[in-house]
Amino acid sequence: MIQTVSLVLSLGLMALVAFAFIKVAASAGGKAMEYPPIQQKSNRGRTLVFGLIVVAGIVITLATTTDLPYRATHGGGGPVDKVVEVEAYQWYWQLSTDYAQENETVVFNVTSGDVNHGLGVYDEDMKLVGQTQAMPGYTNSLELSFDKPGTYRLMCMEYCGEAHHAMTSQFSVVSKQGE
Ligand code: CUA
Repeated sequence: MIQTVSLVLSLGLMALVAFAFIKVAASAGGKAMEYPPIQQKSNRGRTLVFGLIVVAGIVITLATTTDLPYRATHGGGGPVDKVVEVEAYQWYWQLSTDYAQENETVVFNVTSGDVNHGLGVYDEDMKLVGQTQAMPGYTNSLELSFDKPGTYRLMCMEYCGEAHHAMTSQFSVVSKQGE
């Protein structure tokens, strides 16, 4: 989908550039004109295009980054229901607990016992819901609110040696009883 959009967009822009070249080439050879008015006109056009690019950049950035799985975009900083200590090793995850209840706010305190790893938390559709780095001698906190019950997967997101790909674990979110 995004490839198709990029392709169409690229082709469209290329056509625009080609059209501009053809237009200039076709209008060449006419009567000579004074230079300053031409310069003024093109400067106005340049300012307009620059302004449009800035506005488009701001709009695209806001539209595409607000849903990133970072703490600040998920209402972090509220009350915490559960703390999970996570230690990464070549090549496994050591968790103080591997489950939480639906709608609980969980803080993962993530560190590493050897080299740098990356903790990625994926839902059952393999969509990334949160991630942070696992670093030796340092603890990164990742706060997540699990509003969907299910079996989440923890996967290593940073190449850490020959069995990096096998460095997976599970985290269960159980639905509250009687609801
Ligand atoms: Cu641990 Cu890659």
